[in-house]
Amino acid sequence: MPERIAVFGTGYLGATHAAGMAELGHEVIGVDIDSAKIDLLRRGEVPFYEPGLGDVLRRHVDSGRLRFTTDAREAAEFADVFFIGVGTPQKEGEYAADMRYVDDVIETVGPLLTRPAVILGKSTVPVGTAARLAERLREIAPVGADAQLGWNPEFLREGFAVEDTLRPDRLVIGVDPENPGRIEEVARSVYAAMLERNTPFIVTDLATSELVKVSANAFLATKISFINAIAEVCEASGADVTALADAIGYDERIGRKFLGAGLGFGGGCLPKDIRAFMARAGELGVDQALTFLREVDNVNMRRRKHVVELATRVVGGSLSGIHVAVLGAAFKPQSDDVRDSPALDVAGSLHLRGADVRVYDPEAMRNAAAVWPTLTFAQSIEEACAGADLVLVATEWAQFRSIDPAALAATVGQPRIIDGRNCLVAQDWIDAGWEYYGMGRHSG
Ligand code: UGA
Repeated sequence: MPERIAVFGTGYLGATHAAGMAELGHEVIGVDIDSAKIDLLRRGEVPFYEPGLGDVLRRHVDSGRLRFTTDAREAAEFADVFFIGVGTPQKEGEYAADMRYVDDVIETVGPLLTRPAVILGKSTVPVGTAARLAERLREIAPVGADAQLGWNPEFLREGFAVEDTLRPDRLVIGVDPENPGRIEEVARSVYAAMLERNTPFIVTDLATSELVKVSANAFLATKISFINAIAEVCEASGADVTALADAIGYDERIGRKFLGAGLGFGGGCLPKDIRAFMARAGELGVDQALTFLREVDNVNMRRRKHVVELATRVVGGSLSGIHVAVLGAAFKPQSDDVRDSPALDVAGSLHLRGADVRVYDPEAMRNAAAVWPTLTFAQSIEEACAGADLVLVATEWAQFRSIDPAALAATVGQPRIIDGRNCLVAQDWIDAGWEYYGMGRHSG
């Protein structure tokens, strides 16, 4: 049965979830306080780059199954099921997550609930948040205990957001065991199409559901930093981290995914989530349990420094006046997101050390220019690389992987390349006359 759904927050998570729920057959209203974003979405335009999202969005805006508003009252009158998909960024100057946007949704929507409603939180939050919000909701909702809150963490990856929303590898629903209400029943109705396909459906308590999400991201971050730590040892010992990752990845218990050594992780999730997790563990008196995440963070941040130092070394000791072409600004391919992007961070550091940095990214240049207006942005790979003393591949876009090394050699000043994502076929570049430097490889 189609549900009437409101999704609060229309960023990478909320906009995708709203469109995904419409695709599943539900009637959906997306809500945001940012009227410029809502205007775009109403016209069927996605305010960020996410492959495939535009098609789904337009289809359902046109069919009338998906609407957008800045008016929470309109959403409250319309919907029976509410999702929270607003951001929980890192607080300024500390590790903890900033909960103000999540809290604002409850404070705004709670007093408007005059008939039974189920609210499912999707945002990544510190453990304990859902129980606090559930209690607050009961206090402020006119309908009282018939306003029920559960947690339904989201595991979508940017770049694959539509696919991950429509075909998740698992669904997790957190409910208060003392007061389960209708949450599981409503979640089963919303996700009926996925349950028919036997998607694993895990119903657990609120705290566990919150911890599932941060633990998953902490594990992924740890896996990346593990291989990057080994890359450091490879660099010092003349070993090759890519061959090593292939070899250990064949062990099913280890697995090859997320063993890509390079510039390390960035984005709006992994870095801030591990920090918020450490902060919360501290509050709970178990900070020692997560001390290792500090090292995960340190290894990760060292990769950026390593690449800047490598760049300095390969151009002869000083970056002053050196033309460096940086290919990539997004934190990963298939995204225009530059939040905590290793690529942009390194481009900025090279610039601050006096290099003449020219950045090209297929999708992220507008966002990158907003963060680093003093960098030079080129309109193509060729324009960024013309006359360059050094080329740095910082995001593994397919477009960069398919560059013809011989053709690019004719454009640059010096055929030197740092493969910051180990995404190029080294031998092809060496054969075309390039000095090639990988990450955690002999030459790096
Ligand atoms: C991550 C998780 O993968 C999602 O499951 C989760 O839902 C999401 O955070 C979130 O919390 O919202 P995402 O931030 O889109 O998703 O990006 P990932 O694909 O996880 O990549 C994160 C970073 O790790 C990127 O900078 C990527 O370049 C880097 N990475 C990834 C590596 O350096 N090496 C690898 O082998 C894999």
